Amino acid sequence: MRSLIDIKELSLEELDGLIATALDIIDNPQKYSEKCKGKKLATLFFEPSTRTRLSFEAAMYELGGNVLGFSEASSSSSAKGESVADTAKMISCYADIIAMRHPKEGAPLVASMNATIPVVNAGDGGHNHPTQTLADLLTIKRKKGRFENLTIGLCGDLKFGRTVHSLIAAMSRYKGIKFVLISPEELRIPSYVKTDVLDKNGIEYVETKDLCTAMPELDILYMTRIQKERFFNEEDYLRLKDSYILDLPKLDNAKKDLCIMHPLPRVNEISVKVDSDPRACYFEQALNGKYMRMALILMLLGIN
Ligand code: NCD
Repeated sequence: MRSLIDIKELSLEELDGLIATALDIIDNPQKYSEKCKGKKLATLFFEPSTRTRLSFEAAMYELGGNVLGFSEASSSSSAKGESVADTAKMISCYADIIAMRHPKEGAPLVASMNATIPVVNAGDGGHNHPTQTLADLLTIKRKKGRFENLTIGLCGDLKFGRTVHSLIAAMSRYKGIKFVLISPEELRIPSYVKTDVLDKNGIEYVETKDLCTAMPELDILYMTRIQKERFFNEEDYLRLKDSYILDLPKLDNAKKDLCIMHPLPRVNEISVKVDSDPRACYFEQALNGKYMRMALILMLLGIN
C-alpha cells in the first residue's frame, strides 16, 4: 500500500509511467472508463479548493468510480475535535483512496501513517503540493517535449507557495535546469529548499526581484498568487499583493515559445489579456491535472 505525500517519492521512471498513462487516457478515454468500477475516492478538504478537489472527483468519475467527502473542515468531525489520525482510520473503512488537503504542514503524512488505504497529499499548508506538480510536469512535457535544459522562472510568493516547492523538488532531478527565483525580499524561497534541494543537487539558480530583466532567458514562467491565507498580518499582504502583474507589454522581450504557467487561482498576477496569447498554458495545465490524477489513482490502487 502506497501513498503520495512528497513528489520525490516517485522515481523518474514512475513519473514517466504516469505521464505515459495520462497521454494514453487523453487518446483513449473509453479504455479507462470502467477501471475503477466499485472503487471510492474520499476527498477530505480542510481548506478551500476548486481545481484540486473537483479534478480529483472528475478523475475518479471518469475512471468509473465514486466519490465521497467534504470540502470544508467545519462540516467534518474535526470541528468536534477529531484528530487527523482518527479521521484517516475511519475513512479507511469507507473508501479505497484518500485525497487530503490541510492547512497544517505534515497532516497528510500523519493521515498516511494511520490510514490503511493510500493517502494523496492534495496540499499541506505552505509545504508541498505533489499532484499540482504532476499537472505541471505533464504541461511541460506536452509544451516543451523535454524536462532537461530549461530555464524556469518562478515568480511571486516563493515562501508560502507550496506548488513552487514541489515543482523545484521535481525539476531539480533533471539535467541542465536553471531556476530564476523572482520574488519580493520577504517572500523568497525558504532556506530549506535552497540547502536540501537546490544546493544538494548542484542546481544553478539566481534570486531577483525583477521580472522584466529575467524575462528574455526564460523557457517557462511560473506565476504564483501571493498566499494571503498564510500571512500573519493583513498589512503585509496588502503591501505585497500586487508585486507582480504579468501583462502583454512585459512579454515583448520574452521568448516566442515561452510557456506561461500558473497553478491557479489567479488573483491579479496575470492580466486577462494574456489569456489569449498562445504562450498562456495555465488553463491547459488545470486540465492536465485531471489526467495526471487519473493516472495516479490507477497507480496507487494497483490497477493496470
Ligand atoms: C494552489 C494551491 O492550493 O496551493 N492551487 C491549486 O491547487 N491549483 C495554488 C494557490 O492556491 O495559489
